[in-house]
Amino acid sequence: MQLIINENHQQSSEQAAKSFAKFIRQNPKAVLGFATGSTPLLLYAKLIEYYQRKELSFQSITAFNLDEYVGIAADNSHSYAYFMQKNLFSNIDILAQNCHIPNGMSTDLELECERYEHLILANKGIDIQLLGIGRNGHIGFNEPASSFEENTHIVNLSPSTLEANSKYFNNQNMPKKAITMGIASILRAKKIILLAEGDDKAKAIKASLTGEITPTMPASILQSHPNVDVYLDQAAASLL
Ligand code: PGA
Repeated sequence: MQLIINENHQQSSEQAAKSFAKFIRQNPKAVLGFATGSTPLLLYAKLIEYYQRKELSFQSITAFNLDEYVGIAADNSHSYAYFMQKNLFSNIDILAQNCHIPNGMSTDLELECERYEHLILANKGIDIQLLGIGRNGHIGFNEPASSFEENTHIVNLSPSTLEANSKYFNNQNMPKKAITMGIASILRAKKIILLAEGDDKAKAIKASLTGEITPTMPASILQSHPNVDVYLDQAAASLL
């Protein structure tokens, strides 16, 4: 695991964006795993900037997102599909058919999970998976006590996640379930880039990077992955 501690999140985001850009230039058909939340926003802005300056093309890449709420349609502004369109996909030259996000509106959610996992495998797996981390140590929506063996599956969101994300729903009608890539799906990525910002992530970062590998702290499993880069700002690193 490579640990990079920066003065601020802007620097972490720029370094992580550079790492993505270098990989895409060397591998124009890269398969990339993207994340939502506030953490990746500056990184996405940097990737858009590269594209606008004609320094990078996304035309042949394939994208898989980590997760999506159940019961929220792609055109609903609260969906992760909408988030990705707004904050990345609509601003770069990625092809619509290469943007994959679980369908939380599927009438057969179990089948949708299987379809999604097979689609990742059919694309020969993810080259670089981007991750944020929850205050409870979740990655994707793999909440504490999730099995390390799971592929894409349906989850009940934990009280801490519901509280953290309710701000996006104006505290009303936040979905209680989501589809998420499992820990096993995430660990199959050839490389993982984890970004964390702020002191509300410091405890989870300390436990995940230096504590016991345990399902009660899902991100701790990253210690077992051979190729992980962790970018932290001072606040997220403050307990290390
Ligand atoms: P955040 O969420 O980027 O909004 O902090 C990260 C996560 O919950 O995985």
